[in-house]
Parts: sequence; C-alpha cells; structure tokens
Amino acid sequence: MTSSSDQPTTPCVQPSLFAAIPPEVTIYEVGPRDGLQNESTVLSVERKVGMIEGLVDAGIRRIEVTSFVNPRWIPALADHMEVAAKIRRKPEVDYSALVPNMRGLDSATRAGMKEIAVFMAASQTHNRKNINKSTEDALKTYGEVIKEAQSRGMKVRGYVSCVYGCPYEGSVPAQQVIDVSAALLDMGVFEISLGDTIGVGTPRQVEHVFRALLGAGLTMDQLAVHFHDTRGTALANITVALQFGVRTIDSAIGGLGGCPYAPGASGNVATEDVVYMLSGMGVSTGVDIDKLVGISTQLSSYLARELPSKYLKAHMGHCARVGRSL
Ligand code: HMG
Ligand code: MG
Repeated sequence: MTSSSDQPTTPCVQPSLFAAIPPEVTIYEVGPRDGLQNESTVLSVERKVGMIEGLVDAGIRRIEVTSFVNPRWIPALADHMEVAAKIRRKPEVDYSALVPNMRGLDSATRAGMKEIAVFMAASQTHNRKNINKSTEDALKTYGEVIKEAQSRGMKVRGYVSCVYGCPYEGSVPAQQVIDVSAALLDMGVFEISLGDTIGVGTPRQVEHVFRALLGAGLTMDQLAVHFHDTRGTALANITVALQFGVRTIDSAIGGLGGCPYAPGASGNVATEDVVYMLSGMGVSTGVDIDKLVGISTQLSSYLARELPSKYLKAHMGHCARVGRSL
C-alpha cells in the first residue's frame, strides 16, 4: 500500500468553478407575497407589516410585499391595499408587488407603489389557469400595463414561470422561455425573474436555459432566479446560476410559498438557506441571518407549523442540544 505522500502530485490546471461568482448578491425577498399567497392561515395586516419591516431591518433591500390581483383568486392577499399603505418605507429599499392588469396597476398606484412586477408563464396552459389568458393576450395586456406604469414613474420587473417545467404541459422548450422573456424586456421590464414554479429543475437544465438565454442576446444583469424547492434542488440550481454570474436571487423567509394554480408547487427556497450558503462561499448579501431566524421562528408560531428552512431546523436542533433559547 502506498501512502498519500507517495502519490505523484499533478498541479491543478482547471480554472476555479466559482470564478464568475459575484462578490455581492441581492436577495429579492418574496415571503410576504409568494410565501403567504397559498397559506390557509391568513395573517393579520399588522403581522404582515411586522414581517415586512422585520425583513427590512434584517438587511433585505428588495422585497415583494403583496399582489394587486383579484382577491377571489388569491384570498390570502385580499388586504393588499392596507398592507401596502401601512408599511413604513425606507428610501434605500425597493418595495414591489404583483400586478396582473390595469385594474391592479391602479390599485398599486393608489397604494403608493414605485415598483411592480408583471407575471406570466412560458407555457400556455399555466397562463390560462393562473391569469385566465393565453400567452398572446397576456403579452398584449402587459404591453399596456408596462407602458402605463412607466408613464407613472414606476419600475417594472417581469416574471417568467414554468421555465423548467409546467404542471399541465410537462417539459417547456427553452425557446418559449426566450420568446416570453425577450418580449417582456422589449416592452420595458428591467429584469426577468426565471421561475421554477413547481421545483422540477436540475443543475444541467439551469445551464441549458442560461446558455439558451445568453445565446439569444439576453445579459446576466437582466436575469434573476426564482426557485421553488419542491424536490430539494434549489440550492444546487442557484449554484449553477451563480457560476453564470447571477446577481439577484429570489427567496422566501422560512421557505414559505407556492402557487395555488400550479398543482404540486411548494415553498420557495428559504432566505436563511440561501444567505447561509452564500456567506460560506464568501458572497455578501448584507442580510443578518440571526434576525432572519427570529422572523421565521415567529412566523412558524403564527402559522402553527414547522417551516421548511433547513437552516432554521438545524439552528433549532442546535439550540435544543445546547439548552439555549432561540
Ligand atoms: P379574470 O377573472 O379573467 O378577470 O381574472 P376579469 O378581467 O374578467 O375580471 C373579473 C373580476 O375580477 C371583475 O370583478 C374584476 O373587477 C375583478 P367583478 O366585476 O366580477 O366583481 N378583477 C380584479 N379585482 C381586483 N384586482 C385586480 C382585478 N382584476 C380583475 N387586479 C386575473 C384575471 C388576472 C385578475 C386573475 O386571474 C388573477 O387575479 N390571477 C392572479 C393569480 C395569482 O396571483 N397567482 C399566483 C401568482 S404566483 C406566480 O404566478 C408564480 C411566481 O411566483 C413565479 C414562479 O414561481 O414561477 C410569480
Ligand atoms: Mg413563485
């Protein structure tokens, strides 16, 4: 048997896998919107506002606070006007909200929003189920909404859902993702968030989609990622997106989340888990993980259930073992 010191040493000539990873990443917190939209326990306006202000206090600088959608479609966010009006806003923070049409834009304007997000899928059937429109009609509506929002001085983000698979149609060709993303960018959105709505994506698919989008002329500063962690692949997928240089990552406190019109969708990747991983990789987020844990612990008690965040579970287990309170 030879000892390891007897092995010939070959110098490692491969460039670092992490060479393109940015030193700083922005967390786009979707907990108050995506996180709460599918919860059967509806939090009071005061608790939602407390959650949003707590997240900002923890260092979050971009946050989606609610949806100006039809309350019959999303009852848990029916209080959108009150929530948006009651938040004590900080100038250094971008507060955004989903808007599906002109009526939603008018509500967002009255509630004082300066940024909104339009949302649609790369698949026809999810568009029909989620926003009651074909892909073509959704693009037509959003063309008008984006133009009007910009004339009111608002910034507009765009979501493209079902990037890695659709709950109704199965696999979604990358060309459809390119077409919808390019159309929204042409209409004036400043950023596309690529949604793995039902959490089916795997790292090679992420590589395929990013190569396809960049090959079609999109640039990394136009792209954000939005992974639901249904099958436990979100952090692996984020790592691939980071290797491409992504600088905006959507996540939800505690791993809350899910779309009621996407059967099988479960929580977003947890903000705590993303912040923990990035911090270990030397990537700064400006977010205080201990404060996040305080917020998700409180949310877990409000919602009377354990939240999916792995970091939160590990932290609670550690505290229980050493007899420390959370
Ligand atoms: P519709 O029924 O086709 O709308 O819904 P309509 O234009 O025919 O109007 C019907 C009624 O809705 C009317 O009221 C309108 O006034 C009212 P009535 O006359 O019957 O009393 N209405 C509204 N009320 C309040 N706010 C509005 C609004 N618009 C119409 N903005 C609509 C079309 C798009 C409104 C509906 O389908 C809807 O609200 N969908 C939202 C669904 C949703 O929020 N899903 C979850 C989003 S999560 C997601 O998409 C994925 C994401 O997280 C990324 C990812 O994970 O991939 C973003
Ligand atoms: Mg989502």
